[in-house]
Amino acid sequence: MYKLPEDFIFGGATAAYQAEGATKEGGKGLVAWDEFLEKQGRFSPDPASDFYHQYPEDIRLCEKFGVNGIRISIAWTRIFPDGTGEVNQEGVDFYHNLFAECQKRNITAFVTLHHFDTPKTLFDKGDFLNRENLDAFVDYAEFCFKEFHEVHYWSTFNEIYPVATNQYLLGTFPPSVKSDFSMIIQCLHNMMVAHARTVNLFKDNNYPGEIGVVHSLETKYPATDSPEDQHAAFLDDALSVRFLLDATYLGYYSDKTMQALEEIAEANGATYEFLEEDFEIMKKASHRNDYLGINHYQCHFVKAYDGETQIHHNGTGDKGTSVYKVKGIGERIYKEGLKRTDWDWLIYPEGMYDILMRIKEDYPHYNKIYITENGMGYKDEFEDGVIMDEARIDYLKVYLEAIGKAIEDGVNVKGYFLWSLMDLFSWTNGYNKRYGLFYVDFETQKRYPKASAYWYKRLSETKTIS
Ligand code: BG6
Repeated sequence: MYKLPEDFIFGGATAAYQAEGATKEGGKGLVAWDEFLEKQGRFSPDPASDFYHQYPEDIRLCEKFGVNGIRISIAWTRIFPDGTGEVNQEGVDFYHNLFAECQKRNITAFVTLHHFDTPKTLFDKGDFLNRENLDAFVDYAEFCFKEFHEVHYWSTFNEIYPVATNQYLLGTFPPSVKSDFSMIIQCLHNMMVAHARTVNLFKDNNYPGEIGVVHSLETKYPATDSPEDQHAAFLDDALSVRFLLDATYLGYYSDKTMQALEEIAEANGATYEFLEEDFEIMKKASHRNDYLGINHYQCHFVKAYDGETQIHHNGTGDKGTSVYKVKGIGERIYKEGLKRTDWDWLIYPEGMYDILMRIKEDYPHYNKIYITENGMGYKDEFEDGVIMDEARIDYLKVYLEAIGKAIEDGVNVKGYFLWSLMDLFSWTNGYNKRYGLFYVDFETQKRYPKASAYWYKRLSETKTIS
């Protein structure tokens, strides 16, 4: 049994593009996803959970169910429809109204500036591979810091590693490039530079509040004790975890990271450019992060692999269909005996505990941590308004226990945001993979609390995981 601190945040997470819908309303500009999804024809981002209109109801539900924090993102193109230039006042007003609603009900807002939704005009010019777009991001951030005084907690980016790999390795995100490691490495680095520039701007100008970044940190373990498998896990970890933590907290890439990077780049014929001035910026920012947001759902067991890259993304929930073999890194395998979701995500809460302990040990000035996403995607059964999502409750319990144990062992975790507050749109799975505490009927937009919502309410009241 673990008792969580009195001031712990029991939050719910969302993201603009996945929740708001209304992609063509309120003067919003286009993002690359609009065209990408339309061409694919699998599912539409509208109306999603219609948060654009339903937010008062969602915030009311937060209050009713003890959810005292909400993670949202600002859609860059609601503020600057073209990414830069003219401001869309309707978008600015929308977020003021949303934050006012949060304040009215005492729900703390954690606001992310970029959650996978770069404006199309900038995306078409190379997204974060184009250094000019870094300037555009920093300008947009500055506008938000000056405008939204109601916000106390800011995050620059959501999940830099998935942006880089989904866009340029798996190709599941636009522009659907496959296996281009030059792009992957450059994108990772450039986004970390943009993060550092934004942190420095925030701190140099003494904007009120706190700033951090949200990383997806999924622990990597060797599939066996063999030196080959250990090396494969080391490489996979170096690119997906250590690279980001080094950039965030050291402001440079440690020897171990560089060793792995060079090996991966060589195997894949990749080149990249890190400028001396980037490291000056990153170093300056590396002791100025107020917090780290961690998204953690699963972990990976990695085996040596020396073939060509072969990937199949399970975007349907057909268990056992995932394939992930990457040239120059390794193969992520299913570990016999471990539970996994229908989307092949391994349920292994030790991974959460281990990543938290590692940050405390390897980057002791990390300050504090929020778990900004954790949850279980599931095909919920809806029977007369009742949703008994016991498998989700079991998942949440074991992961929260891992967090409780890490807190007991000295890690400063200040809050938890369950993904997701309500059911919403999933980038590569559409609407059949639900995560919410609240079931959304996407036709009527009616919300129904699931069994997990009642469980979470009790947790937030008792602060005790049992
Ligand atoms: C995180 C993202 O990677 O995982 C969310 O920040 C996303 O935007 C979530 O929805 C769950 O992923 P998926 O693919 O199951 O929707």
